[in-house]
Amino acid sequence: MKKVITYGTFDLLHYGHIRLLERAKALGDYLIVGVTADDFDKTRGKINVQQSFMERVEGVRALGLADEIIIEEYEGQKIDDINRYGIDIFAIGSDWKGKFDYLCDYCSVVYLDRTEGVSSSEIRTENREIRIGVIGESRFLKKFVKECTYVNGAIVVAMVTDETSTLDEDFSDIDIIADSFEKIKDFIDAVYVISTPNLHYEQVKAAVNAGKHVLCELPIALHPDEVQELHSLAKANNVLLVEGLKTAYSTAYARMLLMIKSGVIGKVISVDATCTSLREDEFSSIENEKRSWNSLTAWGTVAMLPVFQILGTNYSNKQIVTKYANEKSKFDIFTRICFTFPDAVASIKVGKGIKSEGELIITGTKGYVYVPAPWWKTDYFEIRYENQEQNRRYFYQLEGEGIRYMIVAFISQVSSHRHTRYIGDEVSMMISSVIEDYYSDKDVTTI
Ligand code: CTP
Repeated sequence: MKKVITYGTFDLLHYGHIRLLERAKALGDYLIVGVTADDFDKTRGKINVQQSFMERVEGVRALGLADEIIIEEYEGQKIDDINRYGIDIFAIGSDWKGKFDYLCDYCSVVYLDRTEGVSSSEIRTENREIRIGVIGESRFLKKFVKECTYVNGAIVVAMVTDETSTLDEDFSDIDIIADSFEKIKDFIDAVYVISTPNLHYEQVKAAVNAGKHVLCELPIALHPDEVQELHSLAKANNVLLVEGLKTAYSTAYARMLLMIKSGVIGKVISVDATCTSLREDEFSSIENEKRSWNSLTAWGTVAMLPVFQILGTNYSNKQIVTKYANEKSKFDIFTRICFTFPDAVASIKVGKGIKSEGELIITGTKGYVYVPAPWWKTDYFEIRYENQEQNRRYFYQLEGEGIRYMIVAFISQVSSHRHTRYIGDEVSMMISSVIEDYYSDKDVTTI
């Protein structure tokens, strides 16, 4: 019996896939199809596959061409499979021509002509092309605009900025560059907002009222009641308001949260997060400095994320210790916040103008999680125990600092019109509540 094997993602099964499988099957008597696992696809850079692994397997199974379906999970697996299943022929589309010649040592390799004019990527783009308007300062928007080019279905068509005359070529593909939201609103489906924290509330409100979906960097407002109001407004207008913060969308960070919830380090007693950077921005006036991203708004939002996601939002008290660059602007170059919960504690140490080790440590009754600096770009973490032999290390590839995954999540939520909360409303509101306390000097000591 001649055995044939082929591999693919088979997302949104199309005519090209069917033709390939038919021809692969005709090469022998028994066809094995390797469907690529989501994690492995991510490692290969294919990050916005639309269907789940099980849906893709079902699609292939329903065709009735495969005699056996296996899962492709790791680099180098093809050689293992060829040996294990006694494969005679490895078949693959001609877009891979030459790439699998190394398998000739194990079986014959056949490249089948790719069917012209159809691909999963094109279908994904056609299915859900979301026209995005970006709002904010060009230095913050640069990465987002670039990352959108890697995500099928996300196209940045418009931009609102004060710097209309000084933009560089990173923005040359954007059709409409304007100084107000009013001028772009008829040409977009959604907005991404990363201006300055004091402007977010009004900008999000305008977008939601115009019926646009919104992805807004935290904090989405400086007061918790405003956050609540914006969420209610989004609901009433039947649009999505999605909290943005890239860390929350990284696979490693999400897995870490799940593992902690499943009890691998016992009961969590303490969450300690540090995020710092030196100051790049100098301000021409106190007013500008007042409105800018300070340590608490830029880094505090990030550091509070694991605190509230792991311990919940019901802390019983907190102490904020802060060092201002200038008391009048309330620009803090350093802030430390200690939270006490009924049965746990947390501390965050953040700074824009100081430098420290940017690590995250989650202490439990059985062991602890250690995420090395810079933990907010999480691709790796360790679970450590007293008996070091039990230590475990986890690595998940992170493309585009995580911004890419945030865009993928946003686009798929907009196109399916289903809000999957990576950052809960209550976490977002609590972060804004701490910021409100900071600005009203509640629980604040200065050094
Ligand atoms: N294939 C083909 N003709 C097409 C599309 C895919 O013969 N028009 C083949 C590929 O060469 C591969 C298999 O089908 O052998 C599975 O391909 P996959 O990567 O899952 O599909 P694509 O449509 O190429 O996906 P994407 O656009 O995400 O790259």
